[in-house]
Amino acid sequence: MSLSAERILVTGGAGFVGSHLVERLVGDGHEVRVVDNLSTGHKEWLPAEATLVEGDLSDPETAATAITSDLDLVIHLAADKDASRDDIAQFQSNTTLTETVLDRMEEVGLDKIAFTSSSTVYGEAPRPTPEDYAPLEPISIYGAGKLAEEALLSVYGHSHDFTVWTFRFANVVGPRLRGAVVPDFIEKLQADPEHLEILGNGRQEKSYLYIDDCLDAMLHVIEHSNKPVNTFNLGTRTTTSVDRIAAIVADEMGVDPERSYTGGDRGWTGDVPKMRLSVEKLAALGWEATHSSDEAIRMATRELLEEV
Ligand SMILES: NC(=O)c1ccc[n+]([C@@H]2O[C@H](COP(=O)([O-])OP(=O)(O)OC[C@H]3O[C@@H](n4cnc5c(N)ncnc54)[C@H](O)[C@@H]3O)[C@@H](O)[C@H]2O)c1
Repeated sequence: MSLSAERILVTGGAGFVGSHLVERLVGDGHEVRVVDNLSTGHKEWLPAEATLVEGDLSDPETAATAITSDLDLVIHLAADKDASRDDIAQFQSNTTLTETVLDRMEEVGLDKIAFTSSSTVYGEAPRPTPEDYAPLEPISIYGAGKLAEEALLSVYGHSHDFTVWTFRFANVVGPRLRGAVVPDFIEKLQADPEHLEILGNGRQEKSYLYIDDCLDAMLHVIEHSNKPVNTFNLGTRTTTSVDRIAAIVADEMGVDPERSYTGGDRGWTGDVPKMRLSVEKLAALGWEATHSSDEAIRMATRELLEEV
């Protein structure tokens, strides 16, 4: 699947999801520009064909350099994505960043934006959670920020003639993933193969989506939906518990650690312990994940182990 848009800006394109997306878009023959402050992204993850504007996107000057009228589409991924950060500064910086992007797009006459939101907007909703579930009651500052950003995008879609695609991601895994459960377990087991500390009680149960499936789904939705606002869950029908992730990672590393648990039903304040998104809307649009949640975890573990 490739897009009809020719010139594409990927914000946060040097990060985990972004750099894989940029590789895919460049491979499909698109002209790709990336804007990234390299806070968690890496220049060396970008293919040579992509151009990089280095800077903080909440700064209007960076936005003016990166967002120009010759673009056809903006795919907006740049964000501080640390879901365990419990401070309002993250809410302010992520929402300011998104408003800066939208404002600059309007100034130069651009009107197509895809945005990476998150399952965290649902809080602890019943599962599988459909896109029209209400009321949305996020339980983390990160989730509250994503919901506020979705609301801003909705205004541009409905009142400023934009076309908006919003992707509510499950947990995405694959090579280059950082700051998440799989790389965390690998790091801990490399330091001490005999022992693994698990945050919470290990029974947290979430849906994991392999990176290639995630990219396929994003491109499919952009090509096949064109309402002012198109909101889609991106996930798998299956889930994997934290205990199961520990078992898969240990198996792939050939170790048999003793597990200890920090206790409680969640890893941190604001963690949603059970998450499974309804993917019926996505299926009705003609797309289904090829890898189960367990497969995604195993593939990502193997690939992450090859990186070190
Ligand atoms: N990975 C997941 O499982 C997951 C799940 C739900 C949602 N998301 C969302 O998908 C997007 C990409 O996530 P990721 O996992 O690739 O994270 P990431 O941290 O690897 O990527 C984010 C990128 O944005 C850049 N960035 C951050 N703040 C910036 C700023 N102010 N100006 C310019 N660049 C900035 C970072 O340097 C990084 O390259 C994020 O919006 C995240 O919230 C990811």
